[in-house]
Amino acid sequence: MLIVTLILIVLAVSILIQSNQIKSLIYNQQAQFFIYEANEVSTIIKNESSSEVVNERVRILAQFLNATILIYDRDGDLTTAQKTQHEGHNHVILKKEFLTRVWQGGNIIHAGKVNNYPIDIFLVAVPVIENDKITKAVVIYSPLAPLKQQINSIRQISFWGALLGMGLATILSVFILKTMTRPLLKMEAVAHAIANGEFGKQVPVVTNDEVGKLASSLNNMSLQLKEKIEAIERLDKTRQEFVSNVSHELRTPLTVIQSFSEAILDGLVKEEKVRDFYLKNILEESKRLKRLVDDLLDLKALEAGQTLADMEYVLISKLVMVTSGNFMSLAKEKNIDLNVTIKDKEVTVYGNIDRLKQVMTNLIGNAIAHTQPGGRVEIMEEQKDDRVLISVADNGPGIPPEEIEHIWERFYKVDKSRSRGAGGTGLGLAIARRIVELHGGSITVESAPGQGAVFIVNLPIINNV
Ligand SMILES: Nc1ncnc2c1ncn2[C@@H]1O[C@H](COP(=O)(O)OP(=O)(O)OP(=O)(O)O)[C@@H](O)[C@H]1O
Ligand SMILES: [Mg+2]
Repeated sequence: MLIVTLILIVLAVSILIQSNQIKSLIYNQQAQFFIYEANEVSTIIKNESSSEVVNERVRILAQFLNATILIYDRDGDLTTAQKTQHEGHNHVILKKEFLTRVWQGGNIIHAGKVNNYPIDIFLVAVPVIENDKITKAVVIYSPLAPLKQQINSIRQISFWGALLGMGLATILSVFILKTMTRPLLKMEAVAHAIANGEFGKQVPVVTNDEVGKLASSLNNMSLQLKEKIEAIERLDKTRQEFVSNVSHELRTPLTVIQSFSEAILDGLVKEEKVRDFYLKNILEESKRLKRLVDDLLDLKALEAGQTLADMEYVLISKLVMVTSGNFMSLAKEKNIDLNVTIKDKEVTVYGNIDRLKQVMTNLIGNAIAHTQPGGRVEIMEEQKDDRVLISVADNGPGIPPEEIEHIWERFYKVDKSRSRGAGGTGLGLAIARRIVELHGGSITVESAPGQGAVFIVNLPIINNV
């Protein structure tokens, strides 16, 4: 409403200014015209000596102009007066002072009342100059009414024109507003959806202007929000899983420790053999707990750090020989054929030897744990370009394809029942992968069910030792 009032005010002011301009334009034109004609009369006066001829010519001019022409002499007395038909009354009587400006050499332009003359007139008066002297004054006038009428009709035209323009502008702006607000409304809907937690909604971007840019940045924001929220949700899920995994891993040994120690304290276990068995179990589970906590802290430190401390040149052949040597007796015990092949004795990497041993120990330990008696574990070291590949292969049951991508996750165990007793914590491969990554290397696995598994550690070689 305020805008409409404002527009109307602007319109009124502009029409007012315009109509004033129209008025002065038309008055000016008329004045120019009359002055020109008055100068014509002046020329006639100067060129004609006979006053009859002058009178006749002025009469014709007055008829032609539809105006009254008066000529005054230097004393201010009227010498000639030629009226037209329009003039029912007597011609205007000018007071002597009225022509003062003309006698001073100037022109007079006047619109409105003169003396007691009954109608408004438009009048001009010019001097006649002969031999550098002002000898006469020529006055031309006509009623003002027709001029005013002309002004009024022009004013009307401009008023209606302005109104029409306004109308068209309003219709056009409503149309433009509609086409502009449509995408804005859609954006509003998307913003609303985002506020309600529905992320990722998109608006169609149709134009390349500011509105289009706004739409695409809204789309961008929506998409980014969706990704961020999903990432947060994933992280949250991982955290929850982690907490429940840890609690699960802790509960089993704690239950064993609690119930066995209660049984002993309650005096329920009489036989020394049985009591020893209980105590052994308690010790075993305590060790398990300690190992779990140690591994967790270890993994946490590895994940937080970007580099490893205590880096040195590590001879890979030696590393492989030492770590696999540690498993010789276990392999023999399980009747597993443990085979080591070193293809290049000189290969060296830059690394933390204890950490690399940890990786090898877990891989070989896993392989032996998953191999049946009579089976075989092959450890091989070979150079490929500027990398060294250490593979640990077994001919155990292998890893099902749907599980293979998960084995690197913390606490992940393919055979869930193995969490008891001799089973590990499921942190080994997560730790191993992180260690290898911190060495600038990678660790991969290939396996087919029933065909065993091959774990391959790939590390960059340092040659210039
Ligand atoms: N050579 C293998 N053959 C078959 N499955 C394997 C082999 N190595 C690992 N896995 C599977 O991957 C899981 C994860 O191994 P990982 O070394 O991380 O944990 P873990 O050996 O169970 O416990 P930890 O190493 O912490 O004592 C194992 O529980 C097992 O299910
Ligand atoms: Mg393991």
